[in-house]
Amino acid sequence: VIAPPPGAWLLPGLVDLHAHLREPGQESKEDIRSGLGAAAAGGFTDVCAMPNTVPVNDSRMVTEAMLARAHDVGGPRLHPIGAITMGQRGEALTEMGDLREAGAVAVSDDGRCVTSSSVMRRALEYASVFDMPVIQHAEDHALTEGSQMHEGSVSTKLGLRGWPRVAEDIIVARDLMLAEYTGARYHVAHASTEGTVRLLREAKSRGLRVSAEVTPHHLLLTHEAVGLYDTACKVNPPLREEHDVQALREGLADGTIDAVATDHAPHGILDKHCEFAEAKPGMIGLELCLPLLLGLVEQGALPLNRLVESLTHAPSSIARLPDKRIREGARADLVLIDPEERWTIEASRLRSKSKNTPFMGRNVKGRVKMTLVAGNIVFNGGS
Ligand code: DOR
Repeated sequence: VIAPPPGAWLLPGLVDLHAHLREPGQESKEDIRSGLGAAAAGGFTDVCAMPNTVPVNDSRMVTEAMLARAHDVGGPRLHPIGAITMGQRGEALTEMGDLREAGAVAVSDDGRCVTSSSVMRRALEYASVFDMPVIQHAEDHALTEGSQMHEGSVSTKLGLRGWPRVAEDIIVARDLMLAEYTGARYHVAHASTEGTVRLLREAKSRGLRVSAEVTPHHLLLTHEAVGLYDTACKVNPPLREEHDVQALREGLADGTIDAVATDHAPHGILDKHCEFAEAKPGMIGLELCLPLLLGLVEQGALPLNRLVESLTHAPSSIARLPDKRIREGARADLVLIDPEERWTIEASRLRSKSKNTPFMGRNVKGRVKMTLVAGNIVFNGGS
């Protein structure tokens, strides 16, 4: 029997288009069991898993192994994303038909941009045969080699090599042209710049089949958060400037950016407890996404209906998952939230194996109380 707190909200189950669950290969950081446990606690019923595992998910075998593991674990559904190229090396394309048949919902070389225009063109053409979006981590490596953080006043002050926003804009502009040329489905992973928003807005106004996601951290933090070499704020793409954050918020509010995705990137203590230049990029997000973004709604910076849409219907339609909207006869993929509960983000409250987040210690409002997948309770208030 469920006795929801008065004023609780019942929403469709959340869908994450972009998580790194680290299995196979780096299970000390996260595995499918702990990752899906964190997802359930964050209100997610569906998690798309990026292919930068060890080995890379560039084959039917790895895709099937991940799905078998998720099936054993139970809980939220896992949807593997296959690599675009073998070993994410940016050269030979994967067998996308095999990946699709095995259960992959998209292809991406996330973490390693496909910089060759000819490989990207063929990838778009090949993926469109199987109606899969190509998800690009847009980064022109020629402009980012050795970069540690956003190129700007903070990188100059800290003496760290900067990652210019134009490195993202150049690849997004090229890829939008290739998407138009091929008619394929193209998706921008973790958009971080004002330029990306402008390019997407123009492409969408002309009816291109393109979509994009933004992370909570790019909506909430700027490069100033790096402070004095805070490795918790090291992430790819890097935290940008105030005008980028504003453009991302506006893009999400008006639908130019379709979805919110966590880019949940678990790393061990020693991966972050080191020199900034040695630290691994990324932060966890599955359990923090909803409460952090409810804060934006409360500030009036994001309409609640757009937040819900961007975490449910929009990502599920990009990954071609069943419709998440609550209606008669639909399966009960639901999340129950107490929008008034205040809590503090603490390591002991998080289910993810890794605790790397710059939001540690932050007071938030809004708590997931229960998550149901196809009518089964997969998270129940921490018990
Ligand atoms: O910061 C990041 N970490 N960005 C990525 O694109 C990859 C991710 C990871 O796998 O750690």
